[in-house]
Amino acid sequence: MYYPDEVIEEVRSRNDIVDVISGYVKLQRKGSSYFGLCPFHNEKSPSFSVSPGKQMYYCFGCGAGGNVFTFLMEYENYSFQEAVKTLADRAGVALPEIEYSQEAKRARDEKNAVLEVNREAAKYYYYLLRTPEGAPGLEYLKKRGLTAETMQRFGLGYAGRYSDGLYRYLKKKGVSDELLKKSGLMQVNEKQGMYDKFWNRVMFPIMDLNGKVVGFGGRVMGDAKPKYLNSPETAVFDKSRNLYGLNFARSSRKKQLLLCEGYMDVISLHQAGFTNAVASLGTALTSQHASLLKRFTDEAVLTYDSDEAGIRAALRAIPLLKEAGVTAKVLHMEPYKDPDEFIKAQGAEAFQERIDQAENSFLFEISVLEKSFDMSDPEEKTKFFQAVARKISGFELEVERENYIEAITGKYQISFQGLRKMVMNWLMQGAPPVREAPKSGKRKEKEKEDGILKSQRLILTWLAEHPGLYPSVRQYIHPEDFSQELYQKAAKLLFDQLEKGEVNPAQILSVFEDPEEQGQAAALFHADLAVETPKEWDKALRETLAKIMDYSIKKKTAQMDPADLQGLQQLVDAKRRLQQLGRLHISL
Ligand code: GTP
Ligand code: MN
Repeated sequence: MYYPDEVIEEVRSRNDIVDVISGYVKLQRKGSSYFGLCPFHNEKSPSFSVSPGKQMYYCFGCGAGGNVFTFLMEYENYSFQEAVKTLADRAGVALPEIEYSQEAKRARDEKNAVLEVNREAAKYYYYLLRTPEGAPGLEYLKKRGLTAETMQRFGLGYAGRYSDGLYRYLKKKGVSDELLKKSGLMQVNEKQGMYDKFWNRVMFPIMDLNGKVVGFGGRVMGDAKPKYLNSPETAVFDKSRNLYGLNFARSSRKKQLLLCEGYMDVISLHQAGFTNAVASLGTALTSQHASLLKRFTDEAVLTYDSDEAGIRAALRAIPLLKEAGVTAKVLHMEPYKDPDEFIKAQGAEAFQERIDQAENSFLFEISVLEKSFDMSDPEEKTKFFQAVARKISGFELEVERENYIEAITGKYQISFQGLRKMVMNWLMQGAPPVREAPKSGKRKEKEKEDGILKSQRLILTWLAEHPGLYPSVRQYIHPEDFSQELYQKAAKLLFDQLEKGEVNPAQILSVFEDPEEQGQAAALFHADLAVETPKEWDKALRETLAKIMDYSIKKKTAQMDPADLQGLQQLVDAKRRLQQLGRLHISL
């Protein structure tokens, strides 16, 4: 689903970045830019800049940066499409209808219809909870310590005593039987026909990322079984891709997300101020859940129940999270069963302490492993350490392995050297595969490359700020002289704009879809070098150009096919230009 480039550019140009960001961050003018406290990292003095000229923001502290779309994507966790929509609304730009195929149109219509039925159902349950018929439900939820505000926020409701209450309500609204079947809200049997799936239960609407109701969970108010009944999978409800509470947690602006087991855990955590809590919906965590989490955080704290099942769930979740690039930590709930119980008994402050003390997931795995060995038996104990060593040998970096060896020797009776030898043995057997840490030679090369990249960023920044430099710069370097794909792409676009005399760096960022790339691209236009006098300027520019050219020539020489005469000629020309560069004088 894509909007044409012109439309995106129109939306972008009609939303002044200073206006938009001022709605979120207090900005103060300083020279040609505005500065404020960075909303993406903690800081006391402002290093977050917004440039009206470039229509970009950039934080000199943490490197966050981008255009007006990137800002909403990062701040509100919007997708690119959502950011475009929001800003189009804000500026009153009408977005074109997107063309769908017949099949895609049918699927979309069905999804919208099911969402609409769900919304009606949620309204019905919500309303019923607040009528005399709903009194048992309200009583139950109050007894569980939920405030009216919390019930409202989560849209909690009640499915009444009659097994056709919702059916009759939706029928009156004109919903067809066919659609009712697709919604998963009804049960069908031959004798009774169609009737409500949920009755005599308190109802938890399940919302997607954007707050749309995609399904329901219903809980009995006593000890009857099954305790929870959940909507079946429908066109809009996929349990392996939805996390309860994420619609709120996405904008909690906390460092981690708390991952728990149940609806009630999420709700009571949010009520206690932990608005970063989410739960999978009565299913084990999937890899799709893990990638969904990764969109919003780099660290998950597992706040699973303290029983056997909770431990097993944590052991399964850890590798999935790790694979998705999310660091896992495990919170110890003992002596309480789940977060809901803990909060009720000990309160929010104590829970925060437990979050701060959450255990590294590897050490958690080891302590679970330990339980399957009889540590008083020397042979068993050796086997345990072998198992530990094998696990440690799976870490890629030597420092990582050493840190874990150290942590284990601090906790168990084994010497550093002893465990280290065992780890080495596993490494030598080649299982599991291990890569070596970068050698120091490589590191030097990396430093040099960092220097080159800095020069390349400087040139792009200067060109964006002083287009008058372009005619001189163009004689020496071309977009292909930049060393990474992202740099080349951005340089090509900027050079094209300079050719046309229309410099617009913020437009360049829209070409990159991933907010991370947009941030990297924004950094290209915010390089900083202290140059003041014209003489310093002249020197800095010449040196920077020379560095870029020199690096590019060396790289091309190394990759040169000796039979490529034309290429050789170009290299000779480039070298000559590099020598002439010494005579270049440019002023701003
Ligand atoms: P309370 O017992 O009311 O505190 O709820 P809870 O959210 O703490 O539930 P629990 O820890 O027992 O279970 C965790 C999650 O598993 C629930 O939130 C449900 O999503 C799911 N679940 C629990 N029991 C059932 C059940 O009987 N059937 C189904 N389908 N799911 C269940
Ligand atoms: Mn519970």
